[in-house]
Amino acid sequence: MKKDNSVIILAAGKGTRMKSSLPKVLHKISGFEMLYFSIKEAKKLSDDITVVLYHQADLIKDRMIEYFDDINFVIQDHENYPGTGGAVMNIKTKHDKVLVLNGDMPLIEAEELEKFFQIDSDIVMSVIELEDSSGYGRVLIKDKEVQKIIEEKDASLEEKQIKTVNAGIYLFSNSVLDKYLPKLSNDNAQGEYYLTDVVELAKNDGYKIAPLFVKEENFKGVNSKLDLSSAEEIMQRRIKERFMKEGVIFRLPDTTYIDADVVIEGESIIENGVTLLKGCKIIDSHIKANSVIEDSQIISSSIGPLARVRPGSKLYKTHIGNFVEVKKSNLTGVKAGHLSYLGDSEIDEGTNIGAGTITCNYDGKRKYKTKIGKNVFIGSDTQIVAPVTIDDNVMVAAGTTVNKDVKKGSLAISRVDLKMVEGFFEKFFKE
Ligand code: UD1
Ligand code: MG
Repeated sequence: MKKDNSVIILAAGKGTRMKSSLPKVLHKISGFEMLYFSIKEAKKLSDDITVVLYHQADLIKDRMIEYFDDINFVIQDHENYPGTGGAVMNIKTKHDKVLVLNGDMPLIEAEELEKFFQIDSDIVMSVIELEDSSGYGRVLIKDKEVQKIIEEKDASLEEKQIKTVNAGIYLFSNSVLDKYLPKLSNDNAQGEYYLTDVVELAKNDGYKIAPLFVKEENFKGVNSKLDLSSAEEIMQRRIKERFMKEGVIFRLPDTTYIDADVVIEGESIIENGVTLLKGCKIIDSHIKANSVIEDSQIISSSIGPLARVRPGSKLYKTHIGNFVEVKKSNLTGVKAGHLSYLGDSEIDEGTNIGAGTITCNYDGKRKYKTKIGKNVFIGSDTQIVAPVTIDDNVMVAAGTTVNKDVKKGSLAISRVDLKMVEGFFEKFFKE
């Protein structure tokens, strides 16, 4: 789609109903702030995006510039002009067509937004039919045209029965906004300047206002923590459906959690209870039940059940089993079947890590690296005190504390002699 449209995203509201000190639009869904999703989708159809802020503006702006470097931020004159109408006052847009979105709608998709531009009308506004329309502005439609929008707090009992509601997205032309924004009044139950009143004013002057019936799911506004969790469920379902269509197997997809930027490719299987967090790339791998992986690459490997891979790891042709934790490590062709911690390490092909092996990578002040070569056999319950290097073809005996480098081809063994005290049991338990 051509990008010669402007988009204004409203994100200045306080989000009182969230009952949180965190601004509403910074609440996360699938690992990313709600506002991130609105901006990401808007960028697909516009090269001129303005985000309107007020409450905790700096915090929101700082977060968003981590993702986007070409967004305009404006601060609403909220004290004098509160409300969604106040929010769009005095914004200079680059293009004539202006799409206005709410920042609390993380489920909207560009595909759906494109439909606004296909309708020939002075104003296009999104509407949904709802069984329970409470909380929304009610929309009065006559002869296929919108007549007016009545906010819940201003609605009469009769108007509250209307099931057609304002989903909160509008396409205006610049001239309509310029003409009617200065004419808004705040003579209503909330004492706010409503953007929705622009519609009524324009209608009265004979402008054409087309309703666009949209899919409820995509236009759900998040106003409470309850809404947040239902939006999360929908987003999660979408993420997994996308992967399944690409050939990934999910065993019980509803029990898994996957952040929005995760990549899964090839013939991969994701079992129940798996969590894949930001920055993960899974290729041709089998992730078994209840494993947690974050910001790591897993290629041609099998993980878990019940394993944890922490940020900065790369596992290739590797197997890690239950209760193995890996952090910031590079493992190639390694087997670590049970109960180990492998941190800040680099381990090469053909190496077997026995149960209970711990890389002691931290001395309370600094972190140190462990390097283990090819075809090394690390016996069970070994502590590897970093910094240390174990060369190729080494055998480390069970229970050894490796605190010196081990040369190629050697056996490393540290043992305390085993003592036997005969007759001890009898004596001890008799008394
Ligand atoms: C608004 C609509 C309502 C619609 C609903 C859909 C108005 C008057 N009402 O109501 O008809 O059914 O959305 O979700 O527009 N905001 C600002 N500045 C403000 C106030 C709000 O930028 O001064 C932003 C908020 O951050 C939010 C958006 O505008 O992203 C909508 O505000 P909200 O308070 O959620 O409006 P609703 O009461 O839901
Ligand atoms: Mg809302």
